[in-house]
Amino acid sequence: MKVLVIGAGGREHALASKINQSSLVEKVYAIPGNEAMVKVAEIHNEIAESNHQEIINFAKNKNIDWVIIGPEQPLIDGLGDLLRQQGVKVFGPGQDVAQIEGSKLFAKQLMEKYDIPTADYREVSNQSDALKYVETCELPVVIKKDGLAAGKGVIIAKTRDEAIEGVKAVYPEEQGRVVFESFLEGEEFSLMTFVNGDYAVPFDCIAQDHKRAYDNDEGPNTGGMGAYCPVPHISENVLRQTNERIAQPIAQAMSKEGHHFFGLLYIGAILTKEGPKVIEFNARFGDPEAQVILTRLDSDLMQHIIDLEEREPIDFKWKEEAVVGVMLASKGYPGAYDKGYKVSGFDLDSHYFVSGLKKDEDHFVNAGGRVILAIGEGATVKDAQVAAYNNVDKIESDNLFYRKDIGNKAIK
Ligand code: AMP
Ligand code: GLY
Repeated sequence: MKVLVIGAGGREHALASKINQSSLVEKVYAIPGNEAMVKVAEIHNEIAESNHQEIINFAKNKNIDWVIIGPEQPLIDGLGDLLRQQGVKVFGPGQDVAQIEGSKLFAKQLMEKYDIPTADYREVSNQSDALKYVETCELPVVIKKDGLAAGKGVIIAKTRDEAIEGVKAVYPEEQGRVVFESFLEGEEFSLMTFVNGDYAVPFDCIAQDHKRAYDNDEGPNTGGMGAYCPVPHISENVLRQTNERIAQPIAQAMSKEGHHFFGLLYIGAILTKEGPKVIEFNARFGDPEAQVILTRLDSDLMQHIIDLEEREPIDFKWKEEAVVGVMLASKGYPGAYDKGYKVSGFDLDSHYFVSGLKKDEDHFVNAGGRVILAIGEGATVKDAQVAAYNNVDKIESDNLFYRKDIGNKAIK
């Protein structure tokens, strides 16, 4: 089989690496991929991720059997639909389904209609109404921009002044939709779920992301500064509840509404006193959760995708080991940062997934906000954490920073 992975980040590096291990797969390609992926895929960075026609031509010329779309933007732009119309098999939903990630309101309305547990919300469509709303609303209040924001479009305001500032920040112009949510308290976790229509199979290993930029969950939200799995202090019972109350009902709801989901549904959940509630849905693997989950997955991802297509049971096998991934990001991220600093000391055989490096003559330089994820495996989360930070220490660069506490919540 020939498989084409779309995307250029650490998630796609992990996907290509895992797919490349499958005995069913003879060759893996990546568009655009990144230059650190060369050991696991043939990269084609002459084609842009947004150039759908070129991607279709490539898939047809190379007789690609499956295309796996990693990031949200091409899903929301309808690349999945275009490829399917050309008879190419795609893991990743079409444009109408990807709204579950692309529009907070779409997701909220669906959850409301089908009674799926989530934070209460209120939508407003101009800044004056938003400012009026925060005069009296309950605090803390969560302010979210409608549409894609790479995990960075959320403000949690604890005071009225913060709420007013937040509205102005999220909402620099008078028009534009903003969603307010009530603040939920509890531990967050991520559940990846395979979905084919109303057939939903959650991975029986959950992961935990670290969204804030700095230690102890301080600083601004980011795309994710590290992750680990499994999450020993979130019980199987919670996993079961998340499946029964969220994963199954949302797959059925999408199906009933005529939106056929084929791909991966990411459930970003929070364990409140009343049980798990949805923070967000994504229509693709979480990043960096995918990197740790796919490292721990012992069975064949390509086989699972085929099983999903055929609605066969999916028998995930996991390594005994826990996996921790620590993100090294460019100093300044998620704000402005400088590019072009040398990054060295890592090897590309395993233990590292690259999201923001590019080649400059014979070495790599940072080229993005999130740069490289160092992975560690071990008998416990603690052991995996030690291994991950050992791999962090091998990396040499003057311009990167990372959190020192990835995995701490699982370590007593
Ligand atoms: P989102 O972009 O919706 O994933 O939100 C990013 C982060 O903001 C989440 O991972 C949470 O840490 C936080 N967050 C979002 N919505 C809420 C909420 N309703 N209550 C508490 N925290 C939230
Ligand atoms: N790690 C969260 C996300 O991928 O959106």
